[in-house]
Parts: sequence; C-alpha cells; structure tokens
Amino acid sequence: MMDRYFGDYGGCFVPELLMPPLLEVERAMEEILPGPAFQRDLGELLADYAGRPTPLTRCPTLSEELGFTLWLKREDLLHTGAHKINNTLGQALLAKRIGKTRLVAETGAGQHGVATASAAARLGMDCVIYMGAEDVQRQASNVHRMEMLGARVHAVEGGTRTLKDAINAALRDWIATQATTHYCFGTAAGPHPFPTLVRTFQAVIGREARQQCMKKAGCLPDAVVACVGGGSNAIGAFHAFREDAEVSLIGVEAAGTGEPGCFNSAPLNLGSPGVLHGAYSMLLQNADGQIEPSHSVSAGLDYPGVGPEHSHLKATGRATYGMVRDARALAAFHRLCRAEGIVPALESSHALAYVLDHANRFPAEGHVLVCLSGRGDKDLGIVESHPLPDDDNQEGDRP
Ligand SMILES: Cc1ncc(COP(=O)(O)O)c(C=O)c1O
Repeated sequence: MMDRYFGDYGGCFVPELLMPPLLEVERAMEEILPGPAFQRDLGELLADYAGRPTPLTRCPTLSEELGFTLWLKREDLLHTGAHKINNTLGQALLAKRIGKTRLVAETGAGQHGVATASAAARLGMDCVIYMGAEDVQRQASNVHRMEMLGARVHAVEGGTRTLKDAINAALRDWIATQATTHYCFGTAAGPHPFPTLVRTFQAVIGREARQQCMKKAGCLPDAVVACVGGGSNAIGAFHAFREDAEVSLIGVEAAGTGEPGCFNSAPLNLGSPGVLHGAYSMLLQNADGQIEPSHSVSAGLDYPGVGPEHSHLKATGRATYGMVRDARALAAFHRLCRAEGIVPALESSHALAYVLDHANRFPAEGHVLVCLSGRGDKDLGIVESHPLPDDDNQEGDRP
C-alpha cells in the first residue's frame, strides 16, 4: 500500500462511508495507472486532445528588464486554458476503467469544472459540478462553458460560497453515489490518495519543463516558481526538480488585499496545522479550530487549506512560500500582457508578481522558470473592474 503521509502531513480523515471509494481509487492507481494500456491512452489524450507538450517560452522584454532570463511554462495554451486538464483526463480515464459512468467535481475559478466537463464529454460520462455561489458570479463565463459541455452546475450557497463549500457538497454527493460515480478532485489536496494521484497526473509539467530548460538554456533553472491554491500546478512543476538541490522551489500564496484584519488565502504563511477535507495540513483556522474564511481576487487561489505535500516541503525547507497581494497580481497581469503579449490567469499572475517584485532575490544572468498555469480570458471582467495600478515599482509582500 502506498504511503499516506508526507512527513507529518496528509492522511485520510474521512467518514467511514468514504473509505470504500477511496480504497478503490488507491487500488486503481496501483494496478491500472502504471500499465502500458493506460499510459498509452493517457499519452494520446494529452498529446492529441489537450495539446502537450506545452512550450517553454522565453520572455525577451521582461528578461531584459529583470537581468535574468524569465521562462514561462505555457499551461495556458492547453485545451480548456489551464493545467487542470492534465489531471481530469487522467482521473476520468481511470474512473472509466473501474466502471464508473459519472464524474462529480468541485471548482473555484471554473477551470477544473470546465476541464472535468470536457473530459466527461470526451469519454462519454455524466458530469455534475459544484461551485460556490460567489464563484458562479465572478467566473460566469466558465459556468456557461461547463453547461455547453453537458455538465450540470450546482451553485453552493453555504459557508463563504467559495471552493471550500463546493468541496463539501461534492464529498456529500460522492457518499451517496459512489457505486456509479468518481469524485474527480481538482487539486493535490484532500484525503489520500488524491494528493498523490493529482501530483502523478500534474508531474508532466515539471518533467517537460526540466527537459526543455536543459535543451534551450543548457542548464537547470535557478528557481521554479508557481502559484499555490490547493497546490496542484506547483507540485506538478516542482516534482521533477525535487532532487536538484541547486534549484529553488518557490510557491506563491495569495495574500488577499493585504489590509490589516482582512482575509487572505495563505495557509502556509499565515495558518497552522489541522484537518480540512480529509487531510492534516496547514490551514486558516481560529483558536477553536474553526475554519477561517479565505479571500483572494483570484477564485482559484481562494481556499483556506493547501495540499499536505506543500506543508511537508515547507517544514523540511525544500521549498519556500511567498505571498502576493491582489493589487500586485493585477499589476503583473497587465505587465505580462503589455510586455510579452500573453494574457495570464489571475492565479498565475501571483507567481509572476512574486518574480517581478523580488527580482533582486534571483541570480543576475540566471534562469527563472514560472509555471503559467492558465490563461486570463475568464478574468477579464474582474481585471476591468479594478483600476490599473500606477505604482508598478512598489516592493511586493514579504516573505
Ligand atoms: C489557472 C489556475 N491556476 C492555478 C489554480 C490553483 O490551483 P492549484 O493550486 O491546484 O494549481 C487554479 C485553480 O482553479 C487555476 O484555475
């Protein structure tokens, strides 16, 4: 049986009723996933349907300004517009192999919902998506896309009406429907085996990026930087570099507005350990262990918890985690649009902002690789409603 923990973090803290489907997924991971037939079918889908490999793009204008070479791993160019499709194709294929006919999923920004709805349509499965009512409003274009793709979208009115509440609703659905249904979990968090399963499907990001960087730059990057919501694009980007001690791994959390007393989405920096959604990991909670509401301008980062492997990477010091405020992410969004002709997702803009605002922390003439996890089409309404920041040289957030 595979390891359920990353150091002290992880585990499987779920109601007894969820153990059978989780054990079924774990068995499928061990017995079906590594086999040549599964790998061939997934490889074909990733190449011919999703559009892998994605390019590694050098940013000439920003590199000139920064004094080191900035590379973007272009997950934004994938079918459906974000890295989420790497995971949903894998999980949908696995679910089908174990006889499931229906997928349920949670979504925050809507990217995982769209990617799950696409995978379900492609593989002939039914699909139900749970989305916080707040997110249904702020990411409306993705709600329409999910419906076009044949999914039923349920707006979840409880709690903060965001991702945390959507996950609760999806877990409740799964308890009742496990005979026919797979819960296609969208990030490298949740109960075992999801953190490992999602990392397995997202690790393609770092595998490709490592090879591409060796080929194009002739060396490994000095740093790999990725935004962290639940942590799937970051762990996918980091995994191939984990043994390369000379490569810094930097995750970037959302600090929200940064105003005193306001909510954030930075459990690794500002939280403490506890259990949320079936795993022991860092999370935002009050002194009584009640989950604190999170906030970020980017729906995909708006989550009070984080995947357990990131808590472990932080505890061991192998990765470090910074924070970026809403306004700095918006500034980075505009800067990438204008300088390089690329419209990033607001989530990915956090990773980029960290690099732009802390350029002096990276070696001159070095190579910095940012995972551009998604494209920003879904965010245009939000960006338009926030005035263009005019103090672009302002120092970013610590650490
Ligand atoms: C484009 C994009 N990037 C990043 C994230 C954050 O998720 P994760 O931390 O699992 O990569 C999301 C979540 O919706 C997203 O849509």
